[in-house]
Order: sequence, then structure tokens, then C-alpha cells
Amino acid sequence: MHRLAKILPEIQPEEIQVLQTLEEVTHRFEYVPIEEVNKRTTIDAEDVLFLLSQLNKRGLVQRTKKRYLGYRISQTGYDALALYDLAQKDVILSLGQPYGVGKEATVYRALDANNEEVAVKFLRWGRTSFRRVRRLRTLKDEPLYSWMDFSKRAAKREFTALRILQKVGGKVPTPLAVSRHVVVMSKMSGTLLLHLVDLKKPQKILEKIVQQIQLAFQKAELIHGDLSEYNVFVDENEQITLFDWPQWQPLTHPNALWMLKRDITNVTTFFRRRFRILYDVDETLTRVTASPNGKMKND
Ligand SMILES: Nc1ncnc2c1ncn2[C@@H]1O[C@H](COP(=O)(O)OP(=O)(O)OP(=O)(O)O)[C@@H](O)[C@H]1O
Ligand SMILES: [Mg+2]
Repeated sequence: MHRLAKILPEIQPEEIQVLQTLEEVTHRFEYVPIEEVNKRTTIDAEDVLFLLSQLNKRGLVQRTKKRYLGYRISQTGYDALALYDLAQKDVILSLGQPYGVGKEATVYRALDANNEEVAVKFLRWGRTSFRRVRRLRTLKDEPLYSWMDFSKRAAKREFTALRILQKVGGKVPTPLAVSRHVVVMSKMSGTLLLHLVDLKKPQKILEKIVQQIQLAFQKAELIHGDLSEYNVFVDENEQITLFDWPQWQPLTHPNALWMLKRDITNVTTFFRRRFRILYDVDETLTRVTASPNGKMKND
């Protein structure tokens, strides 16, 4: 069984209490002094120490003994807090194997309260998630808590986009819940566009994608911002799903049109190279942005 899947059945309420205490003050200390933990919890000091050493053994916290005895929550500990919360709210019953490990997220299969399969996406932080961060802001030597914050904000952003798109009938996974850096959504069926080599009617798929980009632009007033053959699923009935939305931007963003053009370029380039379908980027951009009366939306 995957390491994370073990957390859910094994985690104790008292361990969660200690983790939550660390989480509360994580922005104030690199490592939270043991005295600070004791001050903030009703659990006996001796028990706190025992719980923390158990959590440390299982990799849910990290310890320092350098200048003082202190602890900080690890990425796995943060995962545990989110999982526990989602289980408490009956969003998920159990966690299974990952579907996919991306550069910025790991997506696990899970079962919901009705034993239906759902997808649980953990937004990651750290060195591997630099690409997207760099795109959004200047990266300096960020302390740990700001990485936690960043992945938490990314999860909220993705959840919000899915909700807005769902409302206007967008072909996206259904958002089910969000806790900290974790988004729960419906499971998509199909295959990543990247892996499709012989499509019966490739142009039909490209048309559907362009229509979805247009729907997002016209009705949801937002732009995906990272669209490519890596973020589109196609099922056996040639239905498509556009996923992976944490970097979306509203049309009001100063770079919105530039991002839209890049999304369109990525998709049309893929279809040109793989299926010899020639779509002009600027023409497609005009189609996407033209409002029903024929004017550019941002004119
Ligand atoms: N709702 C879902 N249902 C089923 N599988 C999913 C779902 N969401 C994501 N996946 C799987 O997880 C993979 C990674 O998802 P996603 O693209 O959202 O994360 P990512 O870390 O941004 O990935 P990358 O950086 O590679 O684009 C997908 O390629 C897909 O295989
Ligand atoms: Mg992706």
C-alpha cells in the first residue's frame, strides 16, 4: 500500500490535535518550541512529547535539537491533516493508489461515502513546483510556511475555477471538496490527449477543445493558463475533460490575452504535429474572444 494510504486508518485524534497546534503557529517559527506546543494544547506535556516522537518516527513532523527542542509539520503531516479533515466530513472513506504523479501534484484514487471512486489531488510544494510559482511571482528564498500557504492557495484556486466552470456547463471534473492543499473532485474517465495516436476524428476533438476554451472565456470569464495535451482527457465516446486549473486567471488579468494565446498555441501545435490539422492561432484566438455580436470581448 502507498505510504499516504496508510495515514488515514492509523492517525489518532490526539495526533491530529498536536499537528493542528503546529499548523496554527507555523508562520511564527521555523521549528515550534516544545513549550509553545504545550502552551497551546490541553494534552499533558509528557503525552505531547510522546505523540511528537511518534509523529517524528512516522515522518509527519520534523525535529530540531540544535538550539532548542522544536518541531515542525512535514509535507506528509500536512497531508494527514487534510485527509483527516476530509474523512471527518465524510468526503472520502479511504485512499488508494496514485493515478498520476505530476510535477506539481499527486493525484490519488479514493472512495467516497457511497463507495464511488473519486480523485484526490495533493498540490505539492518545494523545489519541484518551481515552474508554476516562477510563472506567478518572483521566487526568493521562501520559508516553509509560505510554501504551505502557496499550495493551499493553489488548491483553493483550482476548486474555485472548477466551481465557476461547472456552473456554466464546462467539461471539467466536478469539484467535491477542498481542505488545505488538497482538492477532491470526480474521477475523469479516458486517456490523456498526449497518449492518443490514432484518433478517428481528430478535428472533432480539437473543435471541442476550442469550444471549451471559448466557453471558459465567454461564460466563466477566465483562462486556463496551462492548457496543453497534458491537461486534456478524451474518453472512448470522444468526450473531453479539461483539467489542472490552479493557475487560471480572470479576463481582467493584465496577461490574460497573452496566456490565452499561449494555451491556443499549445493545443493547435499539438494537433498540427500529430494529426496534420492546421488551425491558425490568431484566427482561433479571434473566434474564442469574439462576443456573439461579433466584437472582441476586450475591445
Ligand atoms: N479528476 C481526475 N480523475 C482521474 N485522474 C486524474 C484526475 N485529475 C488528475 N488525474 C491524473 O493525474 C495526473 C496529474 O494531474 P494534474 O495535471 O492535475 O497535476 P499536475 O501535477 O499539474 O500534473 P503536470 O504537472 O504533469 O501537468 C493527470 O495526468 C491524470 O492522469
Ligand atoms: Mg497537469
